[in-house]
Amino acid sequence: MSVRILAIETSCDETAAAVVEDGRRALSSAVFSQIDLHRIYGGVVPEIASRSHVEKIGPIVEEAMAGAGLDFSDLSAVAVTAGPGLIGCLIAGVSYAKGLALATGLPIIPVHHTRGHIAANYIAHQELEPPFLCLVVSGGHSSIIGVDNYDDYRSIGGARDDAAGEAFDKAARALGLPYPGGPELEKAARSGDPHAIKFPSAFNAAEHFDFSFSGMKTAVVNAIHNARQKGRELSQSEVADIAASFQQAVVDALCDKSLRACAAFKYDTLALAGGVAANSCLRETLAHRAREAGIRLLSPPMNLCTDNAAMIGAEAYFAMQRGGFADMSLNARASWKIDAVKLNLG
Ligand code: KG4
Ligand code: ZN
Repeated sequence: MSVRILAIETSCDETAAAVVEDGRRALSSAVFSQIDLHRIYGGVVPEIASRSHVEKIGPIVEEAMAGAGLDFSDLSAVAVTAGPGLIGCLIAGVSYAKGLALATGLPIIPVHHTRGHIAANYIAHQELEPPFLCLVVSGGHSSIIGVDNYDDYRSIGGARDDAAGEAFDKAARALGLPYPGGPELEKAARSGDPHAIKFPSAFNAAEHFDFSFSGMKTAVVNAIHNARQKGRELSQSEVADIAASFQQAVVDALCDKSLRACAAFKYDTLALAGGVAANSCLRETLAHRAREAGIRLLSPPMNLCTDNAAMIGAEAYFAMQRGGFADMSLNARASWKIDAVKLNLG
């Protein structure tokens, strides 16, 4: 019999629900993006985000259930992102899921958000099985993770300072681009010269698999100051050149490290995950370089890269196989290591 899971995701600025079958097929996926609520502040305001989740979660769950054409009695479990993320936002989702589990008698499965991003690949590539290497690049993470089995993750590299998405967002803000910074910076970069400005790359050439993007963000700020010291604001073409050069430097570092990790740890498949994986420059550059290196590259479609609940339902299926249920004492966790997820949260 098929296992159908209703999954809920509220860790940041998207309220999402989805119904996923056997960890591989999204029967429905509903997402409410809060972008319009946060735009005037230039970034996510946690209090506003939490309140909006509380308001929207009910209708979004209804939309996901209607989209799948199912009743609660057709489900095997309710899954929810329990961390890491913004604590108030997580609590909104976890509380709702606990209420739903109580009302329906369904068991509850807590899901690690980053594991969910990785699991998006199980929906996008139904034949995919571990082992593979995953480059997870989101607002909170830039990690190189070896997925050796469905429950066996090893952290090979991580962010020493800003995460990739955070660096995109900060660079975009410095350039005066609107929130959300990542996609706006990508748009601005389209007409720019990626070699116009030299970015620091020494750290990224080093023999380890960690990332450091704060130097690149500082280089953006310096380029802006240089123009201002000459008593003028940046022209549109200068903004485009800085954006393109910054984007290229970040993308080169992500490609160098992840392909080097494939060779060093003998993985022949590299999967992309996380919001920054929606960046076309990253997708195209990595596709080209992976082909050259003889590595199979898997890139989920954009809607499975940015936050969604289908990916949470996919990961929940594999968590369920190993008995990863929680009871009503389940709590949200702002921080939670990916390789420290063991059965119940307690
Ligand atoms: O995975 P995600 O939706 O949420 C987190 O778990 O953080 O990732 C959001 C991050 C933001 O920093 C956003 O600016 C970045 O992903 N992002 C992009 C693009 N689309 C989203 N960064 C660069 N280029 C994009 N096209
Ligand atoms: Zn995310």
